[in-house]
Amino acid sequence: MTLSPRTPGRGVPSTRRTPARPASASRPAVPARSASASATPRASASAGTTAAPRASAAPAASGSGNGSPEYVRFCDGVRAATGIDLGQYRPGQMERRLRSFAQRQGQKDLDAYLAWLRKDPAAMDAFLDRMTINVSELFRNPERFADVEKQILPTLLKQGGGNLKVWSAGCSYGAEVYSLLILLRELAPNGRHDVQAADIDNRILARAKEGKFSASDMRNVTAPRRQKWFTESAAPGDGVTWQVSPELRKAVTFRQMDLLRDSFTSGFDLIACRNVVIYFNDDVKDVLYKRFYDALRPGGILFIGSTERVNNAETSGWEKSGTFFYRKPA
Ligand SMILES: C[S@@+](CC[C@H](N)C(=O)[O-])C[C@H]1O[C@@H](n2cnc3c(N)ncnc32)[C@H](O)[C@@H]1O
Repeated sequence: MTLSPRTPGRGVPSTRRTPARPASASRPAVPARSASASATPRASASAGTTAAPRASAAPAASGSGNGSPEYVRFCDGVRAATGIDLGQYRPGQMERRLRSFAQRQGQKDLDAYLAWLRKDPAAMDAFLDRMTINVSELFRNPERFADVEKQILPTLLKQGGGNLKVWSAGCSYGAEVYSLLILLRELAPNGRHDVQAADIDNRILARAKEGKFSASDMRNVTAPRRQKWFTESAAPGDGVTWQVSPELRKAVTFRQMDLLRDSFTSGFDLIACRNVVIYFNDDVKDVLYKRFYDALRPGGILFIGSTERVNNAETSGWEKSGTFFYRKPA
């Protein structure tokens, strides 16, 4: 599916190739660090999916933080053309990435790059593709998953009477959610678990539903788990592909969702949001973590990435529950 890059339909950079909602349906869930007066309402791509209704929040705002005037112009231009608000990302880091893309495309500066993107939908599409970061693997950071297996899930299962509601927010191609589900099935095979996964990128969600993984995705998967939960098959180019069992695939509800703009459901026992917020600015992160807090049931756990932290966790009400796990008090 290809979305015209000129369709106002995306909340963050990625290859979200779906029709956009009408702009009037759009409400940003999180404020950008510094709002620009010329902001236009955005609509993120979730039409035709089961995404929850939009969170109603502040009027549309966009910002390019402390970026250079050229960067601000670039962000305004991209927002006008695509609806994507680069202002929700850390300005320094994003500007460096953009300048490097532009140079590699033979563009002398961001003004020239924007002019080219405006004229050439394929170039705009390629630009959006490059901004998507879908890196993942099964049992990524195995020591953290050992904590999930030995401490987090057993405690939650006791509290939740054996049935858990789990969410992988920013699931990419599914490695994280299948890892969690495998542990859940091993620890509580008879539980009636509600396992959900969401990503803004429709293309990557299609891959997640297929549940196919490369040998390198599988490097942290033990031999017994490979045998129990995956089928190995030859892949083009002499490689192998591992496909997760139909039973596990059926057990996950995948949903396209922009975490910055769409409403969340609540009552989760465990939310994993790992390696998603790294490019978001601090204000956006704070609001997002607050929304995760609200979406957890009392006693529920937020599981974040190994290079991440929740700023001012204690004053925001979180209890630390081991490294990279935050607990909403019971
Ligand atoms: C690096 S991957 C992380 C995958 C997995 N959580 C892990 O740690 O292995 C980041 C994912 O976040 C998704 N993402 C980025 N911004 C998002 C947003 N606003 N809403 C939902 N997903 C988003 C990207 O599409 C990408 O698939």
